[in-house]
Amino acid sequence: MDLPRVTIVGAGQVGATAAHLIALKGLAHITLIDVVEGLAAGKALDLSQSAPIEGFPVSVKGTSDFNALAASQLIVVTAGLPRKPGMSRDDLLAANANIIGPIAEKIGQLAPEAILIVVTNPLDVMVSLARKRSGFPKNRVMGMAGVLDSARLRAFIAERLKVSASDVQAMVLGSHGDLMVPLRDSIIVKGEPVSSQIPAAELEQILDRTKNGGAEIVALLKQGSAFFASASGVVEMVQAILKNTGSILPACVYLEGEYGLQDVCIGVPVRLGKHGVEHVVELPLSDSERTELAASAEQVRQSVERLAQLQTSQH
Ligand code: 2OP
Repeated sequence: MDLPRVTIVGAGQVGATAAHLIALKGLAHITLIDVVEGLAAGKALDLSQSAPIEGFPVSVKGTSDFNALAASQLIVVTAGLPRKPGMSRDDLLAANANIIGPIAEKIGQLAPEAILIVVTNPLDVMVSLARKRSGFPKNRVMGMAGVLDSARLRAFIAERLKVSASDVQAMVLGSHGDLMVPLRDSIIVKGEPVSSQIPAAELEQILDRTKNGGAEIVALLKQGSAFFASASGVVEMVQAILKNTGSILPACVYLEGEYGLQDVCIGVPVRLGKHGVEHVVELPLSDSERTELAASAEQVRQSVERLAQLQTSQH
């Protein structure tokens, strides 16, 4: 069938689950790549054998050969180490930079027209690194985190109010970390502001739980980290791009003045379509939200600088 090809680099839990969802939705042919010999091939073979049952029209290939990147319109990078209990996403900085940097360079060489979605943590820093090392224009490099963080917030509110999560509108901007920025005043449940339905102190607890949503799951799992909701977040972005829907979703992108922020990759609402990031949507933010977003961006900048120092001392 005439479908685009999505390549997923990293055939761990997020990568394989995203592949499964892409197949079930019939969005694209899929290539899984993993450095671990046999891992991508084995999962691809297994997934392709569910096609007769599920009836999806997509082909699934798996390989450890990065030359397979060449055929892709869209590339999702999930490769990297997950957090261990007690670790912050920043603890992964140097280790995952050593994985993402070379992958982004290969993507730049082998698939120079592709659109790139990064999922590896620490997310905002890895997006920044992938942008530089791929040499891609800013509309074709983005990170998935805001969709996940917003979904967590929506799920917690839906559970508290005993409504369907689809009745909850909420958006989380900023970095994928402790300084993420939930837009409190724009949380709407069944058309009404959440402030009229959940007392302020309790809402703050829900926002804190959202900020620690990834760590809560890491602590329960004891090894590995969350992957179902992350994969769903990736696939919502993949779908918006491949189907050119124009959906507005929070994503980590490179800013040049939007929201008063310069030269930093951070989560903001964007319109996604066939060119990738079609537009950064500038919502009116309250003063405190603007201050929180600036603090979040400052933290990302510091991590980017710390990484640059680590990399200089490695050489
Ligand atoms: C999460 O928030 C692992 O960052 C990922 O679950």
